[in-house]
Amino acid sequence: MDALKQRLLTTLAAFGQEHLLSFWDGLSPAEREALATEIQTVDFRLVADLFARSEDKTAIRELVSRATAPRSYRCGDPASAIPPDVARKRGVEALRAGHVAAMLVAGGQGTRLGFPHPKGMFPIGPVSGKTLFQIHLEKVLAASLRYGVRIPLYIMTSPDTHDETAAFLTEHGRFGIPAADVVLFCQGTMPAVDAKTGKVLLADRHRLALSPDGHGGMVTAFHRSGALDDALRRGIRHLFYFQVDNPLVHVCDPEFLGYHLLANSEFTTQVVRKREPLERLGNVIQVDGRLYVIEYSDLPDDLAARRASDGTLEIWAGSIAVHVMELPFLQRMAKATSGLPFHCAHKKVPYLDEQGNLIRPSEPNAIKFERFIFDLMPLAERAIVVEVDPERHFAPLKNASGHPSDTPESVRARLSAVYREWLRKTGFEVADHVPVEISPRFALDAEELQSRMLTRRPIVTPTYFG
Ligand code: UD1
Repeated sequence: MDALKQRLLTTLAAFGQEHLLSFWDGLSPAEREALATEIQTVDFRLVADLFARSEDKTAIRELVSRATAPRSYRCGDPASAIPPDVARKRGVEALRAGHVAAMLVAGGQGTRLGFPHPKGMFPIGPVSGKTLFQIHLEKVLAASLRYGVRIPLYIMTSPDTHDETAAFLTEHGRFGIPAADVVLFCQGTMPAVDAKTGKVLLADRHRLALSPDGHGGMVTAFHRSGALDDALRRGIRHLFYFQVDNPLVHVCDPEFLGYHLLANSEFTTQVVRKREPLERLGNVIQVDGRLYVIEYSDLPDDLAARRASDGTLEIWAGSIAVHVMELPFLQRMAKATSGLPFHCAHKKVPYLDEQGNLIRPSEPNAIKFERFIFDLMPLAERAIVVEVDPERHFAPLKNASGHPSDTPESVRARLSAVYREWLRKTGFEVADHVPVEISPRFALDAEELQSRMLTRRPIVTPTYFG
């Protein structure tokens, strides 16, 4: 037996994972090297520990049973403890001072959408057919121009999305943002294990079934890649974080940044008021003065359904995964020894069986381990919640056409509805059904649209303002 195989076997045998070498003798030297490298990156002790604890949900139940509603600010609400104008002014100051960067997480596999490319490459503009990436990057560019400052954009990819994302952004000249201001970094991976036995699955004879380690992997990857140091060197203090799937996000919204800054928060999150107890959103709760996000899949039904005396949901705050975080806080967290916890998700993961046949399961067969960025919340010294209007801030693309919600069609309709509202506010007549779209470079909001010299003619056919 060769020395490398012997060494690997010793490591694997300690954790009952020797099956990963079942096909070793038939592999080419390059395949052996590839497999050995993957095996050496896995922390098998961690995987074993996580598998042993994967069914235990008692801690979550205990936590949620003591939940109270989080104290929150509401965007645009003059009765808010911090008036919106004051918040906006403070946010603008931070932007103009060059203290703000944007962070886009785009490492997910987008399985539900069934699109064979990174989700950011999905064409979503209701008239232009622009991709999610183009919309996001144009918002960052428009904010840079508005505040007269460079706003660096950090994009987290994963081994699944990195090369295609990098090539796509280069091909399109990063939609106008200078190369130095778009920084890509790749997140880590975790192996998927068989849900019954805890054995790591093989994706191929020489490859483990690895998947991205969750958006919480951002903390480590941002630090390890040197991107966090890059941000510090540029004098960045606050990071505006958002997901690739939501084209309605107000990137670097000064009012949102302002609440965060004036409340001296280390981690601030945007929420919407949930319409039903089991809506597919993370739930922001407060326990013993700390804020937590409990994923919808982890929230016990009976606790989700609890209502206050006025009939409203007690657990009302749904996370839309838009946050602001302080850079020194992230730096502290990246250096902390324990790091963020891992969550377990039962998923369908294709794998090689003992005979080397590729099996595509029709039911969840595996456990994947992921870290979630919102687990930073209870670790922050001060964390706050800002409520926004879902109609204007949140239209996530999650599912393929034909699904009841969050499909390409429903997202395009929501975008058109927002732009129609802006146009009507500025004096346009727009028929209800007509798709309209306003490029972020043309106007970032209704006020900016108002300031444009436009002929107010009735809009009766699909119209793009770019
Ligand atoms: C997520 C949130 C949920 C929130 C909802 C709002 C989680 C677990 N849940 O749900 O609380 O209410 O969004 O839309 O996050 N990503 C990575 N790397 C990964 C995994 C994901 O970069 O390893 C990125 C994706 O590219 C995407 C975002 O994170 O931009 C969200 O991932 P996804 O798994 O689609 O989250 P949801 O389950 O939709």
